[in-house]
Amino acid sequence: MKLSFTLSLTSLLLAAGDVAAFAPGIISSSSGGGRSSISNGKSQQSSALSAERQPIMAGNWKLNPPTEAEALALATDVATRLGDETCAINGDEMDEASCTEVVIFPPFPFISKVRDAVQEAGLIVGAQNFYYQDSGAYTGSVSAPMIKSVGCEYVLCGHSERRTVFTDTDQGINLKVKKVLESGMKPILCIGETQEEFDMDITKEVCAMQLSKDLFGITKEQMKDVVIAYEPVWAIGTGLVCGSKDANNVHVFVRECLTKMYDEEVAQATRIQYGGSVKPDNVDELMAMPDIDGCLVGGASLDGESFARIVNYKRASVAA
Ligand code: PGA
Repeated sequence: MKLSFTLSLTSLLLAAGDVAAFAPGIISSSSGGGRSSISNGKSQQSSALSAERQPIMAGNWKLNPPTEAEALALATDVATRLGDETCAINGDEMDEASCTEVVIFPPFPFISKVRDAVQEAGLIVGAQNFYYQDSGAYTGSVSAPMIKSVGCEYVLCGHSERRTVFTDTDQGINLKVKKVLESGMKPILCIGETQEEFDMDITKEVCAMQLSKDLFGITKEQMKDVVIAYEPVWAIGTGLVCGSKDANNVHVFVRECLTKMYDEEVAQATRIQYGGSVKPDNVDELMAMPDIDGCLVGGASLDGESFARIVNYKRASVAA
């Protein structure tokens, strides 16, 4: 136990050294990290341009549901429940920054049929993963051209389950982010600290490291198509939601990193989702935070009523 802690701390510190190589200044000028500094009062800091960032809600179905018939039933249920504030229903009448973009990430075999079921309602589909090579002897893989050809507009990159269960590395995630953008699709880059990293108070170091490595070589122009999802791993699928102010503080920190890696314009324009046990009863509070632009939803996206309630969160002006 002690040995594994020592090893993981050592590898983190080594990795933090790598961050300086990739993006000098991100760590050194941002004091503190993790738990204590998340609650440093900066939660009140609001982004001047936040009103111009279009909300984006996404449902990650993971390895669910078991059959095509159930996937179709869920997709149809979601599409028919959406309300006034989604681009899905009112895209023509609302300006883009006000309506909510809605993306569903079904498992590969269901993507085409789910897209057919939801596209009339204005929802879009994405892929949970792919392999960065276009073709060849890669048994079991799915390529970027393949997912694009069945209508995927977004792709999840760096989800914690890919990082841990499938050992995706930051280098591999960087290849995927690049490939998604070159293919004309948009990555949702997931970052976030594990429970152990949270306990060690290094949330900010972890996020800075992942951002600098996963976005290495991505240009300012390409950043227009990048969405970031901050997902504390300890909150995913556990029912433990990160406090909305704490989550907002990490989002503010992510913008500080983007300012250093790019500039203030990119930092303020980039949409940042929160993910980790988002439910109908906590979404309004999360979305009321100035730097939270949407949610990446796992478990609650498998229930049409819950997901529709999350997508149709109460806007701050009417939530009180
Ligand atoms: P959860 O999953 O909403 O079930 O916590 C979130 C995610 O994995 O993106």
